[in-house]
Amino acid sequence: MDDSQVLVASNRGPVSFKLADDGTLSVRRGGGGLVSAMAGLDGDILWICAALSDADRAAVRRAEDGRLDEYGAGAVRMLDIPVGTFHRAYNAVANSTLWFVHHMLYDTPNSPHFDARSRRDWQSYEAYNAAFADALARDARPGAKVAIQDYHLTLAPGMLRERRPDLKIAHFSHTPWAPPEYYRLMPDDIGRQVLEGVLGADHAGFHAEHWADAFIDCCASVLQAKVDRVARTVVHAGRVTRVGVHGLGVDGVSLRARAAEPDVRARRQALREQVGDRKLIVRIDRTELSKNIVRGLAAYRELLAKHPEWHGRVVHLAFAYPSRHDLPEYREYTAAVQRMAAEISDEFGDAGWEPLILQVNDDYPRSLAAYGLADVLLVNPIRDGMNLVAKEGPVLSEDGCALVLSREAGAAAELDEDALMINPFDVSQTAEALNQALLMPRAERAERCARLTAAATALPPQRWFAAQLDALDHRP
Ligand code: F6P
Repeated sequence: MDDSQVLVASNRGPVSFKLADDGTLSVRRGGGGLVSAMAGLDGDILWICAALSDADRAAVRRAEDGRLDEYGAGAVRMLDIPVGTFHRAYNAVANSTLWFVHHMLYDTPNSPHFDARSRRDWQSYEAYNAAFADALARDARPGAKVAIQDYHLTLAPGMLRERRPDLKIAHFSHTPWAPPEYYRLMPDDIGRQVLEGVLGADHAGFHAEHWADAFIDCCASVLQAKVDRVARTVVHAGRVTRVGVHGLGVDGVSLRARAAEPDVRARRQALREQVGDRKLIVRIDRTELSKNIVRGLAAYRELLAKHPEWHGRVVHLAFAYPSRHDLPEYREYTAAVQRMAAEISDEFGDAGWEPLILQVNDDYPRSLAAYGLADVLLVNPIRDGMNLVAKEGPVLSEDGCALVLSREAGAAAELDEDALMINPFDVSQTAEALNQALLMPRAERAERCARLTAAATALPPQRWFAAQLDALDHRP
């Protein structure tokens, strides 16, 4: 990395706070690709994020100038955005509208529905993005590099460009990007604003070619921008934005080191005792509509119905951790997952065999333990920007796991030669892929798993982030 100042902006930051009854604050470090990417970096770096909870807000108010460095959080500034504005921006716009558009999740007879209330939500999204742009403009030194992350912050690049034309700005989308025909279901002015906001960046990054191409198609179709699909550039309002593909991978060394720690080993032992010598199918997701958990469970039910030879010989461990429970769609989805799991247990379970174990409490060490033991890993999202479960599983597999993977995950572009690929809507095909994965000879599984591991670790987080910054040195 060169010695320019680097600012990172994301909704969720690297730390979160907990407020005890006696008023003391404790800090917790988060996980994920961006945190890993930043962990090993030194130099002049500042991370700007939103306060997400009352405890975070308390920490910001106690800190001098909103800087949290004194908590051992690195150089972090949390923005104390008014609670109502934050909720409308995060829940109503980012996680409902934009997330639903890019993952193509709408059930169109009922939703979406854009009305006067949506306008107020949108104004909050603008205010939330403006708060980030203001903070970045204030903290950035001349010529600094700014890496703005994800769908929460699509307007911030354009707003920052207006405030500070001297900065080098990158935007990275961790989600898929919708094709123009679907993107157009948003109100026209909002669709234009989002694209023009991202185009405020010098470089717009995506995890997979498919999403980068869809973004370029939207720019051509919605903005009538001049695009070059081969060179991956978009010219709009007199500016050029380069579009790049950097598929985030995993850091195999630190992941394996974490999986070797005692808390993971203890959970591994407990899981081993629970499952015995049965074959193990594992899935690990946030309980998120795009992850397609209900169809995945339906596929497992079909496997058991069509292949009674597996009765008593296989267990499905489904980890479905809570997510975004402020939104009714997520609460209903969680209930649907639990109903389906209960039906499967009732239909097939007996005194000596629990065919399905559904875990809903977030427990990272237990997930790592499960990766180690899986014979088969099921990753079947409807659409997914990348999906790191598909990459972490093979890296941690002890005996070589077979991967059943949705063709609609960004990771498919890198893993499709050695995974068993499925259409996520085709439950029967998924059931057959599970059967084939369970039957796969051990040697073949190990060979495929080794190649999956190599692909999964090709662009570890620090190199992925460096690629975003390097792209800024080649301004058009
Ligand atoms: O996929 C986009 C993303 O921002 C991920 O990077 C992250 O894991 C996920 O959504 C988490 O969302 P939230 O911060 O709402 O829990």
